[in-house]
Amino acid sequence: MAKITIKPVKGIQGAIEVPPDKSISQRAVMLSSIAEGTTEVSNFLKGDDCVRAIEAFRGMGIEINQKSEVASHKSEIIIKGKGLRGLKKPKKELYLGNSGTTMRIILGILAGQDFECVLTGDESLSKRPMERIAQPLRLMGAEISSGSREPSSGNREIYPPLRIKGKYPLKAIKYKLPVASAQVKSAILLAGLYADGITEIEEPSKSRDHTERMLREFEANIKVNGPKISIQRSVLKAKGGIFIPGDISSAAFFMVTALILKNSKITIKNLGVNPTRTGIIDILKNMGARIEISGAKDTGPEPLADITVYSSDLKGVDIEGDIIPKAIDELPILMVAAVFAKGATVIKGAAELRVKETDRISSMAANLRKMGADIKVEGDTVIINGTDALRGAEVDSFSDHRTAMSMAVAGLRATGETIVSNTDCINKSFPGFEEILRRFAPQDK
Ligand code: S3P
Repeated sequence: MAKITIKPVKGIQGAIEVPPDKSISQRAVMLSSIAEGTTEVSNFLKGDDCVRAIEAFRGMGIEINQKSEVASHKSEIIIKGKGLRGLKKPKKELYLGNSGTTMRIILGILAGQDFECVLTGDESLSKRPMERIAQPLRLMGAEISSGSREPSSGNREIYPPLRIKGKYPLKAIKYKLPVASAQVKSAILLAGLYADGITEIEEPSKSRDHTERMLREFEANIKVNGPKISIQRSVLKAKGGIFIPGDISSAAFFMVTALILKNSKITIKNLGVNPTRTGIIDILKNMGARIEISGAKDTGPEPLADITVYSSDLKGVDIEGDIIPKAIDELPILMVAAVFAKGATVIKGAAELRVKETDRISSMAANLRKMGADIKVEGDTVIINGTDALRGAEVDSFSDHRTAMSMAVAGLRATGETIVSNTDCINKSFPGFEEILRRFAPQDK
């Protein structure tokens, strides 16, 4: 099992590019596969989750080839879409590894198929709740059940493996999402492509809207009006090319590194700055961070920019409400920023963190406490009192990529050595993380 050893570093300077966006890469595979015509996806993330998405559609008869390898962690791929009704029943189960996003969103597509299939995943994915997707898709006409384990008593929940039997056409529904979830929203929108009538969704607060933007690019009949989205049966038309911007969730680790280390200045280029994802920038600015955005390009469906981050004296803030879904994946690294901020940071209403690849409230609290941080957890509220001194320790990723990278960053400003164990999971979203880290924090020979 891989591990990362970190010694403290004084500051980081320079320019980096982070890997392409994981959420958008996965959506590009899914939507291009059910579109009519060929799509070339450039700057595609070659992370484990995206590879699982490719394999799933190959398993349903879609030809997906790598055109060129741009770097070890990104490539150009060509997807020969076969239209909404072109998928074939897979010969065996679709194994989706660790990818909750692939499993949840693909269910929306499978709901509209004439066949039945089984979706499986690794140990962590097998513990992730799926009823939130199954419930609306059942209302639309799909049959979804847990392939092996029954829901635990009293708690109506299902977990992978999942068996899904689709139906065509589905029934359109009007659905109010109980939690802001881009995965649930995306699954219903994709099922809506296969439904008679108008499917209407309302979100409690805005979650990432990559699916809506990409559906519009593929000429789907979709309308967005604030928190309300409607979609009608429509043919998706491949438009030739999709460019995937850099992943702001990956950039967040180096943004916080620059902020908490003295004498730092780092520029991150070609970053996706979709406003449903920039909660991290808003929160950090609120904490006193100096972050400059330049070179904004608004030419494609996803806005791009370069951002420059300078060392800053941070102060504690309250993080709650509508900003939470806009920064959901960045809350672990924000906890690290909060440890080095003056005063208290209170994160409220982040229950969703408990059902990610691991329970990220528990994993971060346990690890940061081991390094000497002052963290209280009360239900789903996390209270962090800033301190200036963390000490190196042996911490664990809990098989969660974002916990692993957050702890590596914490180690850069701790005294002594920090060892993060079980770091293979980082390949899920940020292959090449250690390479960039080593540019700034070389290892002793
Ligand atoms: C994602 C949505 C978020 C996020 C996940 C990726 C997506 O999950 O945490 O890493 O690509 O749609 P939820 O939709 O469950 O909040």
